[in-house]
Amino acid sequence: MKIKKINRLLSNPHGVIVIPLFRGLSRAAIGVEFPELQKLLQQKKILGRDGEALFCNSLSSRRLFLLIAAGGTDRKTDARKLACLIMSRLREKHIRRVQLYLSNDTHISPGFLLNLIDYLHLNNYRFDRYLRKKSKPVQRLDLVRRGKSPWPAAALNAAETTDRCVVFCRDLVNEIPSRITPDTMVQTASDLAAEHHLVIQVFRKSGLVENGLNGLLAVGAAAACSPALISLEYVPEKFSHSVSLVGKGITFDAGGLNLKPGNSMEEMKCDMAGAAVVLAVMKNVAWLRLPVKVTAWAALAENMPGSQAYKPGDIITYANKKTVEIVNTDAEGRLILADALIMASRQRPDAIIEFSTLTGAVVTALGDGIAGLMCRNKKLRTALLQAADACGELLWELPLFSEYRKDITAKIADLKNANYHGASSIKAGLFLQEFVGKTPFAHIDIAGTAFLSRPGPWLGVEGATGFGVRLMTEYLKNLA
Ligand code: BES
Ligand code: MN
Ligand code: ZN
Repeated sequence: MKIKKINRLLSNPHGVIVIPLFRGLSRAAIGVEFPELQKLLQQKKILGRDGEALFCNSLSSRRLFLLIAAGGTDRKTDARKLACLIMSRLREKHIRRVQLYLSNDTHISPGFLLNLIDYLHLNNYRFDRYLRKKSKPVQRLDLVRRGKSPWPAAALNAAETTDRCVVFCRDLVNEIPSRITPDTMVQTASDLAAEHHLVIQVFRKSGLVENGLNGLLAVGAAAACSPALISLEYVPEKFSHSVSLVGKGITFDAGGLNLKPGNSMEEMKCDMAGAAVVLAVMKNVAWLRLPVKVTAWAALAENMPGSQAYKPGDIITYANKKTVEIVNTDAEGRLILADALIMASRQRPDAIIEFSTLTGAVVTALGDGIAGLMCRNKKLRTALLQAADACGELLWELPLFSEYRKDITAKIADLKNANYHGASSIKAGLFLQEFVGKTPFAHIDIAGTAFLSRPGPWLGVEGATGFGVRLMTEYLKNLA
């Protein structure tokens, strides 16, 4: 969707004119701007409550309006809600062209506006590849505000570019599991590298064996498609920071021999969301030419049962010599991430940030609107929380409580991959922490936020959210 800022209403509009009636905004002033709405707006009972919306068609002017009783203009959450509401209404009517009237009488901060724009984009997305009847997205949206405004066109363009990367991520996660395998992910990453001149390295079977990437080899052993580790690197001419991103890419999580029961397997195509996020971020970093060195690591495998499958009781020896006893083959994410984290930390980046749909427990704790952040480095933690607040991809910190470390100590190996005394999100974080050495490290558990099974308050559609792409974009922009 193209979003542009214009100074006055188009005299001969196609589509609809959307008018948010912000709290405190004078209805009389709106009536002056739109005489055909005067009478309607005088009726107090109409559009009295936040969130109420009304389409009206003027016979005299032949203009179509969507009036919305919006909240305030100071909170970013109001901007997100408003955007969600606007887009869902427009969808119902298959409207493709929009003028969004933002009266000069209301103060609109850049934070409010950028969230409004982001969430207009986000709510314009549908995954309709398998629907015979395609949905009709909005194609063009003009923000109408008189006079000069402090919203640079560059920011609008960057939002559009970022949204394309979010869509790239959502399409990958929403795609059916038969079409997403380590093979297809490697192909996608190679295309991305070619398109954006990124340096790519792919480890397949022999490469994994040579480098002792035994977590990937174990977890991927039963699958028809062999596992893979990808690294993609973006090196700008000048940079003072280097960041490595790591993503969990289980292209389908059946649970392995500890097979998942019926309905918990249903959404497990989303278990590669972390990998999709880090690939999408690379696309954006290259497009926006951010002055930060960024390396993405995607650990890819399919977790299947079968005669070749790794087994409970097996012990994996990692490239850093640590050994891990398998207690449950369904706690596979940490096993493949350990390989990627060892490789990432060998390059000594300033920070490693890792995304994974790692634990069901984080969904219990934080639901589908907030991801779990586990990070012992204060500076990194603060920067991530700040980026989260700015963009709406929210994080809540879970403590990496060192007293729990003993719960993942095994009897005949250094570590075990699961334990059943609660706090499994934190224990998964503690497990990962073992594989990064001294590098500042953040683990972000997106098991709840990557994929919605029902529409959320700011995202009106279920399925993949792209959670993490805008968060990382914001974080990396702030570093630069
Ligand atoms: N991929 C799942 C976690 C998950 C759950 C992602 C719900 C998205 C939605 C992960 O591999 C898993 O199976 N975790 C287990 C670990 C347990 C066996 C220690 C879990 O959380 O139940
Ligand atoms: Mn699992
Ligand atoms: Zn998993």
